[in-house]
Amino acid sequence: MKKVTVELHTPYTCLIECGSLAHAGSLARKYVAEDGMAVVITSATVRKHWGAAVEASLRQAGLQYHVLEMRDGERYKTLATVEDLAERMLALGGDRTTTVIALGGGVVGDVAGFVAAVYMRGIDVLQLPTTLVAMIDSAIGGKTGVNLKNGKNLVGAFHQPRAVLIDPLALNTLPEREYRSGLSEAIKYGIIRSRELYAMLERRRHDVRRRDPQCLEAMIAECVRMKAEVVAADERESDLRRILNFGHTFGHALESATEYRRFLHGEAVAWGMIAACRLAVRLHRIGGEEARGISENILELTQPLPSIAVEAEQVFQHMASDKKARAGVLHFVLPREIGQVEMVRGVPENTVRETWQEIIQYSREHGTA
Ligand SMILES: NC(=O)c1ccc[n+]([C@@H]2O[C@H](COP(=O)([O-])OP(=O)(O)OC[C@H]3O[C@@H](n4cnc5c(N)ncnc54)[C@H](O)[C@@H]3O)[C@@H](O)[C@H]2O)c1
Ligand SMILES: [Zn+2]
Repeated sequence: MKKVTVELHTPYTCLIECGSLAHAGSLARKYVAEDGMAVVITSATVRKHWGAAVEASLRQAGLQYHVLEMRDGERYKTLATVEDLAERMLALGGDRTTTVIALGGGVVGDVAGFVAAVYMRGIDVLQLPTTLVAMIDSAIGGKTGVNLKNGKNLVGAFHQPRAVLIDPLALNTLPEREYRSGLSEAIKYGIIRSRELYAMLERRRHDVRRRDPQCLEAMIAECVRMKAEVVAADERESDLRRILNFGHTFGHALESATEYRRFLHGEAVAWGMIAACRLAVRLHRIGGEEARGISENILELTQPLPSIAVEAEQVFQHMASDKKARAGVLHFVLPREIGQVEMVRGVPENTVRETWQEIIQYSREHGTA
């Protein structure tokens, strides 16, 4: 069992332990008010795999609980879903003492977290993440919210969970492509902040890819520690938290240029990190050899990746219109060496264009049709 504390004004614990979903009840017992109830918010898919274990443990712990299912997928991450869940919670008698238990991936976690943030002006939430992305990223840090028609995560709130319970074995049922996509965020932490994690992902790549439980526990704990550190140092978005955007400026442009259809988020981020490496070489911030090594490791861990099937100019335009490209000045999080990144502002547009051309070519050689 591993434990990471997120050191905010109200600190909370992230527990990482194989098999822990079956003991979720005893954890929840500590946080649910004496005669309060718990409302598990989950999706049909996650419930099918893990609902029985979690519900059995809640019963065993003598907790009064209800399960609310929400539709699965990014397109249901909406205010309508939040309203529907809140109405159903009220119908069940939910009040200020109710605790939300978010059981699922990032979509469920963001929506359930937001419901908890706004229901009766805020009630407690426990996060039980079941995807790799949720375990190492979205469940920690308190960002919750939903999408609007014209953009992702545009309505939301900061609402920290009371605790996060991570069971790496939950990943056993996760589709392969979702899992690999999540690995992209794991290696991101290594590149931006931890040589040890990076080395572990390189050395134990085979075990990581086959989801060896001990290996997963160690990897997830290290990623959680990294996210917790960044969040604690800087709860509201600013420079430190921005290093988590490594690979994301390129990645988001790829996702939106392909209308969120061709790439899973982590896949786009994998190309994005490789692009950031190339850009850093062009700007003489890192040696070509080291950058090549990093790119190869990203590929080995996350491939097969769909190749980039759009023109450089097209992705460039999406990047330039990104809200983060303030006032036409492009800035990037770029690697200096393994374990260290820096913020580079005012990168000339043409250098970025050339990087795109290079990466698109590279993706045609190393990606899938
Ligand atoms: N709040 C944050 O800080 C933050 C950070 C990163 C991402 N996000 C958000 O997270 C979302 C993406 O999350 P995600 O990648 O977890 O995707 P997701 O929640 O859509 O889950 C991916 C798929 O896996 C299924 N699934 C989940 N757990 C499973 C399991 N154990 N076994 C089998 N299937 C399972 C889901 O039903 C879904 O079909 C996005 O909306 C993104 O904006 C938020
Ligand atoms: Zn990401």
